[in-house]
Amino acid sequence: MKRILIFIAAVGVAIVFCAIIPHAQESVPTIHAADDGLALTPPMGWYPWNIFGQDPQNEKLIREIVDALVSSGLKDAGYSYVGPDEGICFLRGNDGRITTNLERYPSGLLGLGNYIHQKGLKYALYTDAGTHTCSGAMPGTKGHEFEDMRQFAEWRADYIKIDWCNTEGQDIVKTYTTLRDAQRASGRPIVHSLCSWGDGEPWKWAAQVGHLWRTTTDICAPGKADWDLAMNIAAINEKLFPWAGPGHWNDPDMLIAGMPGLSEVQNRAFFSLWCMMAAPLMAGNDLRDMSTSTIRILTNPEAIAVNQDPLGVQGHIIRMDGKVSIWAGKPLFDGSQAVLIFNQGTSWEAVAIQPSEIGISQKTAFYVRDLWRHTTAGPSISSNSAISVRVEPNDARFFRISRSNDFPLPPIIVANTYRVSLRAGGSSPQELNGMITLTNKGSSELSLWKVRQDIPDWLSVSVAKNGRSQTVTNTVSTAGLKKGLYHAVVRLDNTDPISAKPMSAVYYDVDLEVTDDVGGTLR
Ligand code: GLA
Repeated sequence: MKRILIFIAAVGVAIVFCAIIPHAQESVPTIHAADDGLALTPPMGWYPWNIFGQDPQNEKLIREIVDALVSSGLKDAGYSYVGPDEGICFLRGNDGRITTNLERYPSGLLGLGNYIHQKGLKYALYTDAGTHTCSGAMPGTKGHEFEDMRQFAEWRADYIKIDWCNTEGQDIVKTYTTLRDAQRASGRPIVHSLCSWGDGEPWKWAAQVGHLWRTTTDICAPGKADWDLAMNIAAINEKLFPWAGPGHWNDPDMLIAGMPGLSEVQNRAFFSLWCMMAAPLMAGNDLRDMSTSTIRILTNPEAIAVNQDPLGVQGHIIRMDGKVSIWAGKPLFDGSQAVLIFNQGTSWEAVAIQPSEIGISQKTAFYVRDLWRHTTAGPSISSNSAISVRVEPNDARFFRISRSNDFPLPPIIVANTYRVSLRAGGSSPQELNGMITLTNKGSSELSLWKVRQDIPDWLSVSVAKNGRSQTVTNTVSTAGLKKGLYHAVVRLDNTDPISAKPMSAVYYDVDLEVTDDVGGTLR
């Protein structure tokens, strides 16, 4: 029986936890997310392409996936962005406007978005920067960038994946920059996911126009995972580590964990690699049909904590030992650091890591947390000691190393809803309330969310703490309002309690229907 051992021998005094590889965010002059506060940790969610491809996508499927995302526990683990990929969800009319393909999405794309928001999830849509999407089934944005972005905002999208098919003759930087300007002009903050498969080396410039960019070709053909291809993709993406950081991420494509074609060990190793690379975690499997092992892997809070760490550093390979790669260079918000050991060989390997290799100076006690076994070893004293592990073929050992034996989880914010919908009848002034609850699934205490002041006069927002949750009360006053529909987007900000770094801003929609002209005067 093969048994994996963590052996930490020790002698010494003093330990320094530091990033041993330069943090290359200095090379990024401005980032898109600096203004909108979006995607300060890698986006998490689900996209249909890997498992379904194009044809099965329709409203019924997306709604079923949304329900499964909630009931399986993925939502509570932090997955939030969900919606159709190239799912033939809109068409362009003769007037140039895009409208929902009602045959496939009978509630309309606004209706689908409302469903997603009411569930406390975020709405992801898909388009293309060229004349048409890749299969030609949907219109691209070329020449319609401003109208299309306005329409995506009206559909209440929170995330847009923008493909790069059918773009002959287009300048990639200019095109995606126009799309950013169009998104800003639409007034709705939306995560921009560039999808040029590495064309145009987006890591060099796209932090200023979007929040994440694909670095490689597709990770599989729809329906079946391709392990070798995924490993090639990881190898390409790994080298780009200096370009990733809060609000601007290398995207080695959606997850294949839980898809046909991978073993449990491969699922675990794959997920560890994507967490270590601070890659977006967009699940790509059928969430309606998951084994308990897949759910356990996709929702492992300790692995997700590495991915969602507020410092946002992408880990990378510091050494190869035959077919085994040793990954480090990922300091975490509490002063600990992540280490991954991955065996791509065909037989088990014993690997020893010197503490000095991962930035642990000599002679200080340290603890090693196993992120898959959920056990802690230590304290050990670094010096002549090694961290020795046995790694099975295709498997990864995933650790967090700290001076303290407390391994806090960074904030993971889960909302009960992202939509407050209120209706006021009659001509007398009324006050109506709608609540949103934001729960921190991480293990550190959060201060109160701060409300941005740029909200309309008819709305006021207050925040109260209630244990690990915070209640956001939205009070609407109808005095002086005319009959009609009113809408506001509210932004909340907070900082991470340990690193004090800004956390990804939370946005939600408030809808108010006023059925009659109302007397009185506005506050
Ligand atoms: C490209 C993208 C995929 C998917 C398809 C849709 O290949 O890289 O992720 O969106 O287009 O056709």
